[in-house]
Amino acid sequence: MERILKAKQITKKFLTPAPIEVLKGIDLEVHRGESIAIVGKSGEGKSTLLHILGTLERPSSGALEICGQNTAEAPLPDLRNQHIGFIFQSYNLLDDYTVLDNVLMPAQIARKPTHKGSVAYLRALNLLEIVGLKDRANFFAKLLSGGEKQRTAIARSLCNDPDLILADEPSGNLDHAHSQEVHSLLIGLARDFNKSLIVVTHDKEFSSLCGKTLLLKDGNLSA
Ligand SMILES: Nc1ncnc2c1ncn2[C@@H]1O[C@H](COP(=O)(O)OP(=O)(O)OP(=O)(O)O)[C@@H](O)[C@H]1O
Ligand SMILES: [Mg+2]
Repeated sequence: MERILKAKQITKKFLTPAPIEVLKGIDLEVHRGESIAIVGKSGEGKSTLLHILGTLERPSSGALEICGQNTAEAPLPDLRNQHIGFIFQSYNLLDDYTVLDNVLMPAQIARKPTHKGSVAYLRALNLLEIVGLKDRANFFAKLLSGGEKQRTAIARSLCNDPDLILADEPSGNLDHAHSQEVHSLLIGLARDFNKSLIVVTHDKEFSSLCGKTLLLKDGNLSA
């Protein structure tokens, strides 16, 4: 099966305010369509690891390959924009933009045409329909409920048809019912679109729906 991500001996040290070694040698391979849950206590470095895997942060040492490209050599903004979709706990939408414009943001960044009727535009509407928000397309993002914001962020993560979706506690701010909605959407979309998914979650029900669960503890990942 096609390999989407390969991390080899990734370490991360922070020097200030006090020196700590958060990640001590992470090895991870993710193949197309695979879903992986990363669990662990607060402060173990789950977000740090996800940021590094998403090329938002550089490791202190080690190698990371995304879709066959070595991230030490590739232009990172392009690689990120084409291959990775992000979902954050706090949604990170642009409040004063419409839901549709938020979903289209990755296409805008990629300088694709996004006018009415364009491929990206039609795809964004389709994604909004899938997440159940087509009737909210022209609402400002700030008017949405938390669950609706996260469903918008899920649609946005798929805008550029990425290979890999990274989600950091995507239901961390939601109540149980809306968390379940987000979980089943993410699992279903990953399955239907054959996307790889790495998700940090404290939710046992969600991690049990993923193909594999890995524990981050003392700077190492284990099954
Ligand atoms: N930029 C930074 N500079 C210094 N220390 C940092 C920095 N970012 C994170 N840390 C430290 O690294 C450790 C891991 O943080 P991280 O946010 O990755 O943990 P986490 O597992 O995601 O925790 P949580 O479950 O609470 O979200 C923490 O001790 C944190 O204080
Ligand atoms: Mg975190």
